[in-house]
Amino acid sequence: MAKFSTAWQKAMQLKLDYNNMMAEFIGEKEGFTDKDLKNAKTLAEAAHKNVAENRGTGMMGWTELPYNQSEIVEDIIATAKDIRKKFDNFVVLGIGGSALGPTAVFQALCHLRHNELSKKARKAPKLYVEDNVDPERMASLLGVLDLEKTVFNVITKSGATSETMSQYLIIMKILKDKFGDKAKEHMIATTSANRGNLIKIAKAEGLKTFYIPDGVGGRFSELCPVGLLPAAVLGIDIKAMLKGAAFMDKVCKSKDIKKNPALISALLEYLSMKKGKNISVMMPYADSLKYVADWYCQLWGESLGKAVDKDGNTVYAGQTPVKSLGVTDQHSQIQLYREGPFDKVITFIAVEKFRAEVEISDGCKEFPDVSFLCGHTMSELINSERKATEYALTTAHRLNYTITLPEVNAFTIGELLYMFELETAYTGAMLNVDTFNQPGVEGGKNATYALFGRKGYEKTKEEMDNAPKKKSEYIC
Ligand code: PA5
Repeated sequence: MAKFSTAWQKAMQLKLDYNNMMAEFIGEKEGFTDKDLKNAKTLAEAAHKNVAENRGTGMMGWTELPYNQSEIVEDIIATAKDIRKKFDNFVVLGIGGSALGPTAVFQALCHLRHNELSKKARKAPKLYVEDNVDPERMASLLGVLDLEKTVFNVITKSGATSETMSQYLIIMKILKDKFGDKAKEHMIATTSANRGNLIKIAKAEGLKTFYIPDGVGGRFSELCPVGLLPAAVLGIDIKAMLKGAAFMDKVCKSKDIKKNPALISALLEYLSMKKGKNISVMMPYADSLKYVADWYCQLWGESLGKAVDKDGNTVYAGQTPVKSLGVTDQHSQIQLYREGPFDKVITFIAVEKFRAEVEISDGCKEFPDVSFLCGHTMSELINSERKATEYALTTAHRLNYTITLPEVNAFTIGELLYMFELETAYTGAMLNVDTFNQPGVEGGKNATYALFGRKGYEKTKEEMDNAPKKKSEYIC
C-alpha cells in the first residue's frame, strides 16, 4: 500500500471505542444510554456549528495550520537541514505550549533513547527542552553542552514570559561572551510577529526568526513553527504530521456524533462532567505517547478550567487532567481508579503495532507461575494488560474509552493532536467558556512581574504587599 495513498490514510485512521461509557456495559448508574446521546444531539450539533463557523478566525487560527503553511514549511525544512549539518545539540527555551508540544512529538517519533545514541545513529542533534527556571537544571545543562555545537531556539508567543526571557538573557550573554558577533548564529527565535519584546530583540540582534500566527495560542501551537522546527531538526516528517492533522480535520467535518470522534469524545466528557466526573485521566499504553498525555493535560486544563462562562456567569468549569502511563501506573494509580471516588473518566490510548518487538524468553519451566509468560511478546503483554485494566475498570463501573492508533508515526501523531484540539474546542463550546484565553495563567505571570519590580505592575505589587501576612503559628 503506497504511503499517503487514500487506502493507506484510511488504514492509519485512529479509532475511538466508547462502549465502556455506555450504560449497557458500565451499568445504568454511571453509563450513558442511546437516549442520553440523542437528547444531547442539539448540544453536540451546536458545538460543531460553533467550531465550524469560527474556524480560522480569532484564536482559532490553529484549525488552518494543516493548510496554510507551505512556504513556511519549506523554510523550516531548509533551516533544519542546515542545523543538522552544523550542530549536535538543539535546545528549546520555552514553557507551556512552547515546550510540551515539542517534547511530546520528540518522544513519540524519535528513538526513545535518542540523546544517548551515537551521532551517526542519531542522524540529528540531541534535543533538550528547558521549561523550568531551576538554577540546578540550567547549570547542569551548561555543564554538558559544547556551545560550539549547540543552537538554541527561544520560543514564546507573548515574547514576555519571565521564565523564557530569563533563559534567553542567560544564554545570550554566554553566547556573546564566547562568540561575539557570531552569537546570533546560535540562537533562533520563534515568537509573535507583532507582539511582545522578543520580536524587537530578535530584530535588533539579527536572529533568524519564525513566527507564531496571531490566532494560535501556546497550547494549540504544536503544528506551527513552535513544534515544526524542533521536529524537522530531529528529522521528523513534518509534512506527514500536517497531512495527518488535515485527515483528522476531514474526518471531523461530520456533525454526526457517530462519525466524528472529536465530537463524541467531547460530548461524553461534557456529559460526564455534568455527572460530577471532575477528573480526566489520559493513559497511553506506550512510552512513546507518555508526553502526549502531558501535552493533553495543558490543553484540557488551561482551555476548560474557567471561572466564568461567555455570558459572565460564574461556572468554575473544567476537569482536572491527570497523566498516567500504562502499564507503569497500573502499579501506582489503578487501585484508586478502580476503588476510589466515582469522579473520573479514563481515556486509554492503545497502539496496535509497535515499531519494535521483543520476545519473552523461554525459561523457568519448573515454575509455571513464571513460565506462562514464555513464548509471548512484550507488545502482546502490554496490550493484554491494557485490555485487562479496561475490563477491571469496566466491571467496577468506571467510565473509560479507548483511542487506538494503528501505529505511531508522523501521520497518526498529527491526527491525534488535531483530534484532541478539536475535542477541546467542542467541549469549550458545550461549556460556553472561552477555550482560548488563560486568565489564570496570566494572574501568576503578572504577580511574578510585580515581585520583580516590572514597570506597569505597581498596583499588583501593592496588592501583594497588603495581602494578609502569614502567621508563624501555622508554620511548624
Ligand atoms: O497556552 C498558552 O497560551 C500558555 O500556556 C503558554 O503556552 C505559556 O504560558 C507560555 O507562553 P508564551 O508562549 O507566551 O511564553
